[in-house]
Amino acid sequence: MFETFREDLRAIQRNDPAAKSVLESVLCHTPLHAITLYRIAHWLHTRARLPLVPRLISVLAHFLTGVEIHPAAKIGRRFFIDHGTGVVIGETSEIGDDCVLFHNVTLGGTGKHRGKRHPTLGDNVLVGTGAILLGPVRVGSNSRIGANSFLRMHDVPPNSTVIGIPARLVKRDGARVDLALEPTELPATAIPVPDAAERGDTARARTGGGPE
Ligand SMILES: CC(C)(COP(=O)(O)OP(=O)(O)OC[C@H]1O[C@@H](n2cnc3c(N)ncnc32)[C@H](O)[C@@H]1OP(=O)(O)O)[C@@H](O)C(=O)NCCC(=O)NCCS
Repeated sequence: MFETFREDLRAIQRNDPAAKSVLESVLCHTPLHAITLYRIAHWLHTRARLPLVPRLISVLAHFLTGVEIHPAAKIGRRFFIDHGTGVVIGETSEIGDDCVLFHNVTLGGTGKHRGKRHPTLGDNVLVGTGAILLGPVRVGSNSRIGANSFLRMHDVPPNSTVIGIPARLVKRDGARVDLALEPTELPATAIPVPDAAERGDTARARTGGGPE
């Protein structure tokens, strides 16, 4: 756990030009506080199997830092969040090693699936501020999601840059392109929720379901 903390700390020195010293990062970098509390909550969630305590830690982290990470989310090493406020990482999200998220990023569900319903990011993925990723989408390693992009149920290949609403592929392996993204193939663990109208759930039918 301590080694993981040191790696998260080093990720700040690597990614944040405003980080002046290790001590300053430990004391003042609120996303580091959020990530550290998440790592404790995740440890309790997976190993100690205490259902309520990890959720309470996650609520405390959200209250203190503005970053909401579900304790069940899987996050790799050397994770860096810049600024932090407004970041939401849902329960079944998976994030590889060396990923970078800016403030106001949402890794959410569409409201149309149960089970695996949140995004999976490969290694070394950057997600710009305000980007919204919905559903069990896959983002390949070394890819970048531009600030304020909107990606819903479409996958991003590795070594790519996507931007816009809806997100389009503008770079692949260093070369400029302008391509639509491939729709996400549902993993076996993503279970579609019956259509809201079928269930007689009129409020959800009107809104088309929302991120959860
Ligand atoms: C997407 C991003 C990572 C750059 O990736 P890149 O692979 O280096 O892409 P490029 O900079 O070569 O840009 C490719 C094209 O996309 C455009 N573009 C880049 N980011 C964009 C965005 N968020 N929205 C719209 N267009 C964007 C560029 O203008 C460029 O088009 P042009 O050549 O016609 O001008 C970067 O622009 C970005 O959005 N970073 C997020 C940073 C952030 O959130 N900072 C917050 C600090 S508080």
